[in-house]
Amino acid sequence: MAMDSLIYLDNNATTPLDPRVLEVMLPYYKDRFGNAASIHHRYGHEAKITVENSRKILANELNAKIREIVFTSGATESINLAIKGVCENEVGKKNHIITQSTEHKAVLDVCESMEKRGFEVTYLPVNSEGGVEPNQVKEAMRDETVLVAIMHANNEIGTIQPIKEIGEICRENSVYFLVDAAQSFGKLSIDVKELNIDLLAASAHKIYGPKGIGLLYVNQKNPRIKLKSQIEGGGHERGFRSGTLPVALIAGFGEAVKIASINREKENEYLSHLRDKMINEITANHFDTIVNGSRVNRLSNNINLCFPGIDAETLIMKMKGVACSTSSACSSANLEPSHVIKALGHNNELAHSAVRFSLGRFNTEDEIDRAITEINKTVSLMKENSPRQRLLNV
Ligand SMILES: Cc1ncc(COP(=O)(O)O)c(C=O)c1O
Repeated sequence: MAMDSLIYLDNNATTPLDPRVLEVMLPYYKDRFGNAASIHHRYGHEAKITVENSRKILANELNAKIREIVFTSGATESINLAIKGVCENEVGKKNHIITQSTEHKAVLDVCESMEKRGFEVTYLPVNSEGGVEPNQVKEAMRDETVLVAIMHANNEIGTIQPIKEIGEICRENSVYFLVDAAQSFGKLSIDVKELNIDLLAASAHKIYGPKGIGLLYVNQKNPRIKLKSQIEGGGHERGFRSGTLPVALIAGFGEAVKIASINREKENEYLSHLRDKMINEITANHFDTIVNGSRVNRLSNNINLCFPGIDAETLIMKMKGVACSTSSACSSANLEPSHVIKALGHNNELAHSAVRFSLGRFNTEDEIDRAITEINKTVSLMKENSPRQRLLNV
């Protein structure tokens, strides 16, 4: 899977397509080109069956009903539809949203846009491990609260939030609960009914599926959620999201979830072994390294480290054999230090030293060993050449 000798450790940004997924998708780029909404002939009918088969796999994965799954282009679109779709129906009634400071920009930017439209947003702070306490959500509730948006697992530091407890609080207060599950869907088992989730966003390209396809789970019973659609024109997806469905991508999404679900336990065990090995061997070599996020409630594939005194951008550029990122790839166009690392209580300098290594299904133990050697060596070299160290050597 690796490109030449470059070891890919950026799987939280996106994953490579699993060859088994590609195999399932290919016929839909050839003979099976039908439109799933044009079902008066075999081509369309075949396409419709494929779409509904995938929808069933996704619904089963979440313990949702088939009609509760809406296909979108990805988690960003799902989140936009969920937040704007709920809030636009509440204008003049309720106007308060609760979220947390370490959400992905897909949530934070939409919340900011709702603020410009008259909504008030409470951004809950997180503890030093990036966790939010259910009680914080309870205390932030108001009569005007319409929606709580708390992500399942953080894309930068891998911290997993207490979704079940937060869901209970939302249910008790009759407030809708949106979960951004872009980083957990397929990796962790999720039962939307048991967790009291009303809206859930997920994406295929984080779990070895294709880019450009995602889903929004929309609870249709107790409560039945009504959303103001954001893309109109034809009434596809039960009126929630119009547009001709990308059948190949949907077939791939279904297959990706099928594979993830079957291998979940084994894969998590494998990845957490590699993750812990990497954390232990780096911190053993560099005692000052700070492990960001929780050591317990953490995605099995995520490592986020601060290397005090070292600029993360420079470190990453110097490591020719390892592909990783400073923070979330999605916001790395801006050079501000990560809002997630800062929310943990770190200052700007420490936040600029944070590197994320996110492992994946196709990483081998040999690759991880080589990555550890290169990381340790490069950090040592940078420390030796740092102005602070040179002064001490004089
Ligand atoms: C937590 C989280 N939410 C949302 C997104 C956006 O997902 P998509 O790329 O499918 O729009 C990402 C992608 O990095 C993510 O990590």
